[in-house]
Amino acid sequence: MNLDSKKVVVQLENVSMHFNMSSEKLSSLKEYFIKLLKRQLFFKKYVAIDNVSFSIEKGDVFGIVGLNGCGKSTTLKIVSGILKPTTGKVSVRGSIAPLIELGAGFDMELTARENIYLNGAVLGYSKKLINEKFDEIVEFSEMKDFLDVPMKNYSSGMVARIAFAIATIVQPDILIVDEILAVGDFHFREKCTKRIETMMKTGTTIVLVSHDIEQIESLCNKVMWLEKGKIKMIGGVKEVCEAYKNS
Ligand SMILES: Nc1ncnc2c1ncn2[C@@H]1O[C@H](COP(=O)(O)OP(=O)(O)O)[C@@H](O)[C@H]1O
Ligand SMILES: [Mg+2]
Repeated sequence: MNLDSKKVVVQLENVSMHFNMSSEKLSSLKEYFIKLLKRQLFFKKYVAIDNVSFSIEKGDVFGIVGLNGCGKSTTLKIVSGILKPTTGKVSVRGSIAPLIELGAGFDMELTARENIYLNGAVLGYSKKLINEKFDEIVEFSEMKDFLDVPMKNYSSGMVARIAFAIATIVQPDILIVDEILAVGDFHFREKCTKRIETMMKTGTTIVLVSHDIEQIESLCNKVMWLEKGKIKMIGGVKEVCEAYKNS
């Protein structure tokens, strides 16, 4: 790892992410496979992240704003190591708890009780630790009455409650939050915000994507504004949010 300064915990250097997109509109899966077999399928390169460089320091609450499709989630996945960038360098120092794709670490056929163990294991927690923290997870999520229900019957807000409760039971060095709070109700959002604030005060670095610009303004100290995969502006929360709101 080659992080410039001791305080830097996340560093992206000239990172680009390309996706292959089929350039044709096919009407059926059958047509797709026939074309695939005949090697008649053409792909065009789609640049989701275009030569992005930034660094985040320990204790920062780093917000990312921008229109739908500008590359916010892709950036978070690259920081978390879920996606490997096409080019460029990513350096991360410390443990990461990613709250990115709701329920990505869950098996929806299983109950919440089973998923707490499954997702806990995915996050690297031992069974002993989950046993110890189980009641606290259930209490925070307020899902006690639904613990033995398969999670496919949960609403997205209920999934978010369980996901947030598990991911934050151990204080990570870096917490990554992608619009997860948007699906929760007001009461739960308040609770999550409080827990995030407690983590902030005790040194956890936070990377936050939210459509709620007021939430970004109240929580973040630094903000990056992405436009079509490029950095439009990066800096202090006030100047960037003002410029973004006036755009
Ligand atoms: N797995 C993928 N395959 C192809 N294109 C993708 C994939 N993931 C994201 N994209 C595209 O990359 C762009 C950025 O997506 P995303 O990072 O999810 O945007 P945001 O979170 O800012 O709304 C979008 O145009 C999206 O369609
Ligand atoms: Mg997104």
